[in-house]
Amino acid sequence: MRIDILTLFPEMCEAVLSESIVGRARREGLVDIRTRQIRDYTDDKHGRVDDAPYGGGMGMIMQPQPIYDCFQSLCDELGTRPKLIYLSPQGQVLTQEKVKQLAQEPNLALLCGHYEGVDERLLEEIVDEEVSIGDYVLTGGELPALVLADALARMQPGVLSDDVCFTEESHFSGLLEYPQYTRPPEWRGRAVPDVLLSGHHANIDAWRAAQSLQRTAERRPDLFAAYEKKEKQ
Ligand code: ADE
Repeated sequence: MRIDILTLFPEMCEAVLSESIVGRARREGLVDIRTRQIRDYTDDKHGRVDDAPYGGGMGMIMQPQPIYDCFQSLCDELGTRPKLIYLSPQGQVLTQEKVKQLAQEPNLALLCGHYEGVDERLLEEIVDEEVSIGDYVLTGGELPALVLADALARMQPGVLSDDVCFTEESHFSGLLEYPQYTRPPEWRGRAVPDVLLSGHHANIDAWRAAQSLQRTAERRPDLFAAYEKKEKQ
């Protein structure tokens, strides 16, 4: 999968994308994530990419031309038009279900907004979907784009050590994950549940399934209700 992040802050993205599991996956060619500097495509001789909002109001708005030309140059380079996602608090809130769906795309472009937003005509002209990472407002779209890129990268074959890693984790099945423990068997007076030390795999699986259900019911009644509804079908 190839992901192109269209941004005014490519160094900020590269810093995050070079580290840890995603950094290794990129170096091993398991996922191709690149950044594109929107400012490189402005027609303005002073390098400007934003201007004041028509009708007045606070802040600056990103102009359509630099973003449009940046996206066109990407389409030309790829020889195809990737789906373009604009990260915005006005978008659909991201879920693991949405991540699974987007992970099937061979090419994705992620547009990071800044200042008070992007000229609406650009969104109408080229953006396919708007995605939010939650009901709060950040200073720009880079962190949301990095969140989405990370969630997509770890779904690509070979990125995690074993497919079980994401089929058993929180949200994949619609439930939260069971609690995990490692050595030592007792720490500050707290013992690891006996069943996990028993070596009895059927009992361990049953205990984990029960914990998953109990946690989801307690912590996320919304997820639990949706899970029960699906199970009944
Ligand atoms: N840009 C600013 N805040 C955002 C959010 N919550 N999700 C996606 N993009 C954003």
